Amino acid sequence: MKLRTIQEADLAEKKVLLRADFNVPLAQGKVADDFRIRAALPTIRWLLEKGARLAICSHLGRPKGKPVPELSLAPVAQRLGELLGREVPLLPDCVGPEVTRRVEELPAGELVLLENVRFHPGEEANDPEFARALAAPFELYVNDAFGTAHRAHASTQGVAKFLPAYAGLLLAREVEVLSELAEAPRRPYYILVGGKKAKDKLGVLTDLLPKADGFLIGGGVAFTFLAAQGKQVGDSIVDEELLPTIKDLLQRAKAAGTAIHLPVDVVAARELSEEAETKVFPADAIPQGWMGLDIGPTTRAAFAEALGKAGTVVWAGPMGAFEYPPFAKGTEALARALAESPAFTVVGGGETGEAVVRLGLEKRFSHLSTGGGATLAFLRGKPMPALEPLRAQ
Ligand code: 3PG
Repeated sequence: MKLRTIQEADLAEKKVLLRADFNVPLAQGKVADDFRIRAALPTIRWLLEKGARLAICSHLGRPKGKPVPELSLAPVAQRLGELLGREVPLLPDCVGPEVTRRVEELPAGELVLLENVRFHPGEEANDPEFARALAAPFELYVNDAFGTAHRAHASTQGVAKFLPAYAGLLLAREVEVLSELAEAPRRPYYILVGGKKAKDKLGVLTDLLPKADGFLIGGGVAFTFLAAQGKQVGDSIVDEELLPTIKDLLQRAKAAGTAIHLPVDVVAARELSEEAETKVFPADAIPQGWMGLDIGPTTRAAFAEALGKAGTVVWAGPMGAFEYPPFAKGTEALARALAESPAFTVVGGGETGEAVVRLGLEKRFSHLSTGGGATLAFLRGKPMPALEPLRAQ
């Protein structure tokens, strides 16, 4: 997929609307992980250096179409200002006369941040009137929000009907790397899946079954798979509704000769807390009252060994409840194994990216994607509505 990028645009003195994905985790009113903000800096700097008069918009969280003070972009304005070494004024809204006036007054090479686009119901509804209002003060639209490229919203897609549209540097890079991976992965191609919910990952496994050479499944997701094989998983989280689909998937994988590696041992506790007593159990004999919260030491070694033979690894979802130190070893061990690996290693964003950044290993992966859902949607071959208006003719 070839996109029109900002390198081709005439930006000098232009009033530019940049859609970024600043949907970042917050804690105590501050940005808790600034990975997505840092990833947008090359595009922002490029636009400013070329003399754009820049307004940046983004969503944050899911405020459901009305203003929610806790989901204001104020902490993002603060952090972005620190990273750019200049003040980033936050306007109180993303549409309306004040935005028009402030953008009109902006000198070349200066920027403002607009308030959360999802404070308006028109954003997620992709309402053309809202998209028109969003576009009105500007001459050019740049989309750098790869993490939101699977959403057909007003600020990611609708707005491009009213303005010449270009891809930012981050979005273009994501699409380049992931296109190559989707079309011609270096083999063997393994998918390492984790995270809490089996439901979120089942579609990924189903769609990638014909493309991948093997799957390694850890995290909360693994327990529904183990249960589908009739294993005794104690009080671990199991999504009963998915059992028939998973049984079918396991059979199809077997018929296709696609390896599915599941945990053989787990770290379990009676409760999810930092002080919880932990024990390692075989993955098919977790007693009642105990729930699996991380992969065990034998599984860590087995997964690392299997991944050692890979040509490509895509990693989506932590191996356990890594926010709690007693259950972080599986995620850490595999992050370190992949950091050492000569394979082409791609980390889907979200929690997995957070874990890799926390371990200081981000430079040791071939590509750390800023998209979670978007990365997986792209690799599955799902429609990416926000990319369509950016395609080069
Ligand atoms: C993400 O964090 O995956 C993106 O910012 C999209 O957010 P959404 O799932 O709320 O649309």
